[in-house]
Amino acid sequence: MSDKILVAYASRFGATAGVAEAIGKNLAEHGAQVDVLPIKAVKDISPYRAVVVGSAINAGAWLPEALQFVQEHQADLRRKPFAAFLVCMTLTMKNGEQYRSHVSTWLEPVRALVRPVSEGLFAGALDIGKIPSFSDRLKFRISVLSGVWKEGDHRDWNAIHAWAESLYPLLISVS
Ligand SMILES: Cc1cc2nc3c(=O)[nH]c(=O)nc-3n(C[C@H](O)[C@H](O)[C@H](O)COP(=O)(O)O)c2cc1C
Repeated sequence: MSDKILVAYASRFGATAGVAEAIGKNLAEHGAQVDVLPIKAVKDISPYRAVVVGSAINAGAWLPEALQFVQEHQADLRRKPFAAFLVCMTLTMKNGEQYRSHVSTWLEPVRALVRPVSEGLFAGALDIGKIPSFSDRLKFRISVLSGVWKEGDHRDWNAIHAWAESLYPLLISVS
């Protein structure tokens, strides 16, 4: 078995890609060989000893290609250490931490396929100008105006690094 770790992600506007890169960098600092790739670029997971999959949340769910990836590779993923993370705006809300257990339920469809050895729940970023759909832009503008959350980059790099640190021993443990 190789020592390579895959960090695969689904991202629409780059925030989740950045989280995946940070996790990959942290794992590489421990000496692991790491590939950080968008999910659509991954064809074969057999070269990897462990897999981390992360997605942005849209409408209370992982992006479809991320769940589809876990579905397609579920048999293989059950035989390797597998970790999952999500990136969302709910955790950026004032008192967002009180929604952590609700946010965690968004990983239920993933758990139903393959149980992760660890789960990361992270605050993301919002740039309304980047959202292509007019109605989504409108909804987000209203949510910002009504004080639900603020635009900008809310990623908590300390929390992301702490999770990646805790992940390394779980991913390299003999399976
Ligand atoms: C169309 C759309 C729907 C979203 N739905 C949710 C949601 O239901 N809950 C939430 O907490 N964040 C939601 N978000 C916020 C994103 O999860 C957040 O902006 C994330 O950082 C985006 O990551 P990305 O840049 O990798 O695409 C939504 C964003 C968009 C554009």
